[in-house]
Amino acid sequence: MIPIGVFDSGVGGLTVVRQVFKKLPDQKIIYYGDTARVPYGGKPKEELIYLADIITNFLISKGAKVIVDACNSTSAVALEHLQNKYNIPVLGVIEPGVTSALEATKNGKIGLIATKATVQSGMHSRKIKELSPNVKIYAQSCPEFVPLIEEGKITGAEIKIAAQKYLLPLKKAGIDTLILGCTHYPFIAPLLAEILGDDVTLVDPAVETVNQLCAYMPQRSTQEVNNQYDFYVSGDAEQFGKIANELLAGYSVQNVEKLVVV
Ligand code: DGL
Repeated sequence: MIPIGVFDSGVGGLTVVRQVFKKLPDQKIIYYGDTARVPYGGKPKEELIYLADIITNFLISKGAKVIVDACNSTSAVALEHLQNKYNIPVLGVIEPGVTSALEATKNGKIGLIATKATVQSGMHSRKIKELSPNVKIYAQSCPEFVPLIEEGKITGAEIKIAAQKYLLPLKKAGIDTLILGCTHYPFIAPLLAEILGDDVTLVDPAVETVNQLCAYMPQRSTQEVNNQYDFYVSGDAEQFGKIANELLAGYSVQNVEKLVVV
């Protein structure tokens, strides 16, 4: 058995957990949501590296044998640090998003919506330029999304107005592909699709991230089944459980424990 450690600032990493539930239903997951310190998107690089480090250390202490940094903001600035420091595989969500977007685009115009920290890091642009120098990327930071999604407000006027404001310039630029460059955003994919229309492909990087994760997993026929899920949060455990169950409709999130990692 290879327990999978997954972390994010809050509920966003559950979009990665959702893909693990689908593709690796027999695996143990240890999840950390840093809900007392959410949002990560406005934090400086040094703090994000520190937080990603102490949480990774915690997940390993709980038995994780592979880590998914299910946060674009920390994947952008801390992934290399984690990969150098820890001698287990650490996967991020940026490269999988870029790979999927490059496969999807036909007109070479890719939009990116993400946190301020992720956009400022320029990581998506760099990776896209390395792989496909002629592709254009249009980046937009969306600071209003994460606090609303953390409260479970994925529909309604407030998030719709914010989404229209953020997406209009990307729509005008003629993008045909949009990277959901924050793991919270796939929870509002229906709203984004409604605004952008059928001609724009939405990329949820969690899909390709978990495809890559499968390569580290034993063959199902030889493995013992241990579909045990442990959820830890630094904030209110009950609130997290409630929102998580709403967002992951069809799956059940139990065993949420409050534990502040410092
Ligand atoms: N879901 C995270 C990301 O992918 C963090 C968002 C936030 O806390 O601002 O960037």
